[in-house]
Amino acid sequence: MVERIKTGIYGLDQLIEGGLIDKSAIVVVGSSGTGKTTFAMQFLMHGIDNGEQGLYVTMEESPEQIMKEAKMMGWDMEKHYEKNLFFIHLKGKNFKKMIEEQLPQLVKARSDYDIKTRVVIDPMTPVIWATENKLEQRELIGKLFYTLKELGVVMATVEEHSKPGETIGEDVLLPIYLADGVFHLEYYPIGGAFNRTLNIIKMRGTQHGEGVYPYIFSRGVGIVVRAYPVEKTEEEGKDYDKIFDEAIKTAKFIKAPEYVIERITAMKENWNYDYSPEEALQIIFDSYGLK
Ligand SMILES: Nc1ncnc2c1ncn2[C@@H]1O[C@H](COP(=O)(O)OP(=O)(O)OP(=O)(O)O)[C@@H](O)[C@H]1O
Ligand SMILES: [Mg+2]
Repeated sequence: MVERIKTGIYGLDQLIEGGLIDKSAIVVVGSSGTGKTTFAMQFLMHGIDNGEQGLYVTMEESPEQIMKEAKMMGWDMEKHYEKNLFFIHLKGKNFKKMIEEQLPQLVKARSDYDIKTRVVIDPMTPVIWATENKLEQRELIGKLFYTLKELGVVMATVEEHSKPGETIGEDVLLPIYLADGVFHLEYYPIGGAFNRTLNIIKMRGTQHGEGVYPYIFSRGVGIVVRAYPVEKTEEEGKDYDKIFDEAIKTAKFIKAPEYVIERITAMKENWNYDYSPEEALQIIFDSYGLK
C-alpha cells in the first residue's frame, strides 16, 4: 500500500484516500483571499507538529512577515525557525538562476540527511510571471517541482484571476498540468456560512472526492473542510462553550496530543459562527483517529 501523507487540513484527507502521495507536487489554486496561504501553512505546520521538517520557499515576503502572518492565524512558527522550519527567499530578478543552480545544490545537501520534509512555495505566481515564454515557464516550474520533490511533498500556491464559477484562467493551466494534484479554492462573496468552497481538480493515483466542499476558517485551527453532506443544525441560543468544553474533556480523557487540545481551546475562543461546532469538532477528532 502507498504511504499517505496527511495534509493536516481537517476533513480533506478522507477525500483523497487518507492523504497525499509522498514526493508529489500539489498546486493550490484560488483567487486572492481564498485561503491559499492558510492552506499551505496548515499543511506545513502539521508536518512540524509530527516531527517532520518544513521548508518555506518565498518570493515576495520575507520570513519575518510570513511568521507574523502565521502568528495571526494561530501558528507559532518562530518556535521552530531554523530548527525544523527553514526558509528560502528567492527574490529579485535572479530567481531563474537560483532555481536552476542554487536550489538543486541546496536540496542535495539536505536530502542526504533523509529527514521527512514538507515544502511550501507560496506564492508560486512570480515564477509564472517571470517569463512570457510558455516553454521557459514550463521548464522553470518543472525544474522547481522536480528539484523540491526530492525532499517530500511540495505544495505550491497559484493565484487565479477568474471569478468564482468561471472556468480556470489560462495563466494557471501550466502549473495545473505539471502538478500531481490540484486543489481549487473559491470564495463567493455573497454572505452566508458556506460561501467558501474547495474542489479537487486532479489527484494522480488517487480516487478523490468529486464534490464541491464548503470549508470554514477557524483561528488556531485553520481550514476545516466539510466532507460530509451539508446538514445545518441551527439551534438558537445554544451555548457552544459547553460543546467545546465537552470536546476538550474528551480529548484529554483519550490522551490526545497536547497541540490538539490547544487548538480546540483556541477554536473555542474564536468561534463566532451562528451554528454548532459539533460537526467541525467531529471532523477534527476523526482526522486524528480519535473518537
Ligand atoms: N481564522 C480566520 N477567520 C476568518 N477568516 C479568516 C481566518 N483566517 C483567514 N481568514 C480570511 O482568509 C483570507 C485570506 O487568507 P489567505 O491569506 O490564506 O488567502 P490567500 O489565498 O493566500 O490570499 P492571497 O492570494 O492574497 O495571498 C483573509 O483575508 C481572511 O479574511
Ligand atoms: Mg497568500
